Amino acid sequence: MDKINIGLIGLGTIGAGVVKIFQKNQALFKERLGVDLCLKRIVDIDLERKRDLDLSNINLSDDISEILNDEEINIIIELIGGYELARTYVLTALRKGKHVVTANKALLSKHWDEIIETAKESNVGVYFEASVCGGIPLILSITKGLSGNQILSINGILNGTCNYILSKMSSEKRKFKKVLIDAQKKGYAEADPSLDINGKDSAHKLAIISSLSFGQNISVEEIYVEGITEITLEDCMYAQEEFGCTIKLLAIGRIVDNKIDLRVHPTLIPKKHLLSKVEGAYNAVYVRGDNVGDLLFYGMGAGELPTASAVISDVAAIASKIKDSNTNFRSFLGQREKKKELLPTDELELKYYIRFSTVDHPGVLAKIAGILGDNNISIASVVQKEPLEENVAFVVMLTHKALEKNIRKALVEINKLKIIKAKSVLIRVEEME
Ligand code: HSE
Repeated sequence: MDKINIGLIGLGTIGAGVVKIFQKNQALFKERLGVDLCLKRIVDIDLERKRDLDLSNINLSDDISEILNDEEINIIIELIGGYELARTYVLTALRKGKHVVTANKALLSKHWDEIIETAKESNVGVYFEASVCGGIPLILSITKGLSGNQILSINGILNGTCNYILSKMSSEKRKFKKVLIDAQKKGYAEADPSLDINGKDSAHKLAIISSLSFGQNISVEEIYVEGITEITLEDCMYAQEEFGCTIKLLAIGRIVDNKIDLRVHPTLIPKKHLLSKVEGAYNAVYVRGDNVGDLLFYGMGAGELPTASAVISDVAAIASKIKDSNTNFRSFLGQREKKKELLPTDELELKYYIRFSTVDHPGVLAKIAGILGDNNISIASVVQKEPLEENVAFVVMLTHKALEKNIRKALVEINKLKIIKAKSVLIRVEEME
């Protein structure tokens, strides 16, 4: 075979990047792969939109059957996102013997078993490098580059929108809502940013990379998730100024006592740690392998060309297998049976940042400290702060390591006290040792 035909479904931002890279690097692909990669057809619902692209040699249509029924097309790139339509198109393409490249982490997290069974039946591949951290070749690194290791932990900043918001709040001392609006204006946040700021996008990505890392199929529902919407400017400032930490939305997967600890939540990490220095819309993933030690992957987790770069690398991987008549297209997310149990959050043993909104009276601190002590929680550091606007006092503390079960129980008791004026804020601390 000297030519491999490709069909693209979805000509949005990333789709446009894919077209540009195909056109720019055509000769390079031929040199590297020994075959021509030909982007033969594109389907998109919007044929009217002005696009700054040369589509003269490509058949653009709004009829999906033209791609799915084209027997010359070997590889389908799915870039429409969402669940149902994407699922239908992907499954149809696979049943018709076409390989699929997708950036759709939500689809993979929800319908992995069905997609992979269908791919196996047709002996074709499903590749998804672009679904996690855009341009960073993380999936390839975990599955191939690190195959000589057991992965012990992953700590990742997997969502650029949240990282942009949190780093601007910290560096420019601006409130969450203002920074979010600014991020939307600059194109760093979607018009509907819910999946980003509620942590779900990070959880979808963590489900994929933890399944690959720990060799068992982990679904997104099994991951404990908190977003960043409750994080205030004050929390960012106190974390920095009082405790030498930065707040990041961290996606964590690690082996603890033969169990898998999986969570996505805002986290205080020491300012001196490399992940703390990841600013703006960048992604970064800190991976620890039992032989390689610590590795840091850093780069753009979204955007036209970075994400298209990951899409193209999947296309190239499939093309090279087709060319070599290698029919082993097994896509691997991990076995379905659970080898290791998941660690319940109650069993976590961490340090905690807690901010109490209280009245400013004698005896307040003693009451709070009493309940913490009764629950076997030891205080490492405490400060009282005047909040920026409200008429309350903030008592902010850092605990020594404590069981999360005890912290939750203590907070239920403390939140019932009359001296407490708003729900106490709890943020986990990771020392990143
Ligand atoms: N919206 C995501 C982010 C990129 O902000 O990182 C796509 O998953």
